[in-house]
Amino acid sequence: MQAAAQATVSTTGMQRPQAGRPPRGTKRAQFPRKLRFLFQPHRYKVAYGGRAGLKSWGFARALLILGARQPLKILCAREYQASIRDSVHALLKQQVSLLGLDGHYRVQQQSITGTGGTEIIFAGVKNDPQKIKSMEGIDICWVEEAQKVSAESWQVLIPTIRKSGSEIWVSFNPDLPTDPTFRMFVSAPPPGTVTVKTGWEDNPWLSREILREKDYLARVDKEAYDHVWGGQCRSRSDNQVLVGKCVLEDFEPGTDGWDGPYFGADWGFSTDPTALVKLWIHGRDLCVEDEAYGIGVELDEIPALFGAVPGAREHTIRADNSRPETISHIRSRGFSSIMPAEKWAGSIEDGVAFLRSFERIVIHPRCKHFEEESRLYSYKLDRAGNVLPVIADRHNHCMDAARYALEPLIRQSATPGFFFLDEYGGGGDMGGLTGAGQGRSVEAWANGD
Ligand SMILES: Nc1ncnc2c1ncn2[C@@H]1O[C@H](COP(=O)(O)OP(=O)(O)OP(=O)(O)O)[C@@H](O)[C@H]1O
Ligand SMILES: [Mg+2]
Repeated sequence: MQAAAQATVSTTGMQRPQAGRPPRGTKRAQFPRKLRFLFQPHRYKVAYGGRAGLKSWGFARALLILGARQPLKILCAREYQASIRDSVHALLKQQVSLLGLDGHYRVQQQSITGTGGTEIIFAGVKNDPQKIKSMEGIDICWVEEAQKVSAESWQVLIPTIRKSGSEIWVSFNPDLPTDPTFRMFVSAPPPGTVTVKTGWEDNPWLSREILREKDYLARVDKEAYDHVWGGQCRSRSDNQVLVGKCVLEDFEPGTDGWDGPYFGADWGFSTDPTALVKLWIHGRDLCVEDEAYGIGVELDEIPALFGAVPGAREHTIRADNSRPETISHIRSRGFSSIMPAEKWAGSIEDGVAFLRSFERIVIHPRCKHFEEESRLYSYKLDRAGNVLPVIADRHNHCMDAARYALEPLIRQSATPGFFFLDEYGGGGDMGGLTGAGQGRSVEAWANGD
């Protein structure tokens, strides 16, 4: 464990902190030494690594403390942002209160403003690149979850942060070594960059739940553990079941054109994960709005775990049918619409085909476990490293919950002799299906049956 450094913030003014004992009335926030660089001037400040590596909390706290000391214009940017109610807005709001800075900041729906003149704004680069380009006078830009920020978005963002002395802060969990963010800030960082790798080992505040998750992955899949907790890049993605489908996007379900919510649950046996997911279908996208996830969750703890997901008590939940007694118990604890999901020969493959039939699987950033599993859910490899057409039975708890949630739709799309005719047209042979059984948006020729 690293020793923690102290950062002080005055509650009475914006003076620089003095050496020695802080003046009366000053609050103290504890920081690990590894994050000291956040309080030193650098053009690019980058923290990357595995889960629970202090990145989000550390960056949020440092920004709020700096913004309480002096007026700063801070942009919290991400690749795409539909609403700011969650993600770093929620994190900053939480940290304002944990740091006791309520007197320094006013948290509004769309922004956070400091009583001393600091302004914190939120934007998605892909949503409106012109708006980003026209921003003036940004002192600090924080790009959180930066692993999937595209090269084009960096090209928009970097020249926008042009004020003298301005800084770009980047935090992320690495995915592939070819991702633009990894190349730009780890493989070949530009001058003026400080890049720090942080991990759970640096975190003296690990909760019992975090430790359980870490130990679970170490036990079931060492390679996945090195990636998720060790912060190492994945070596390949060609065996990923959902390759090319998933995007991490902040979204809010609307009323028009949103089908759902669909809830699905998977039970963990002894030390396995228990998972609940909440999904929507919007156009050709499958949208993952919320999740509940825990390892070694006792039967009596499941209602509280599931109850934290809005709507779970009111809507139908389709659950793994291998534990009817668990379903009965949860039903008796206020989840009156929970029911077993059907399984059939080939239901996993049908489910995967259905998931893949969506144009995109949009995962809300709060669904960390779903996002992680979507990367790790893989086909088996043979000893020579070739991809086999067999799905590995691991990293599938959220994925199974998603299949259960969507079970009636999957069954419908997989029923022989039945298909959805989304597109058809003249010319060619009016014969068979293309992509038969591939789910709800099968491209098909009308065959008149
Ligand atoms: N300064 C701190 N004081 C107290 N607890 C902390 C502090 N920093 C982090 N923690 C605890 O450690 C947990 C993980 O930290 P954090 O969310 O910052 O990690 P991260 O690197 O962003 O992880 P991930 O890669 O999973 O997003 C937090 O949820 C919090 O419980
Ligand atoms: Mg984080």
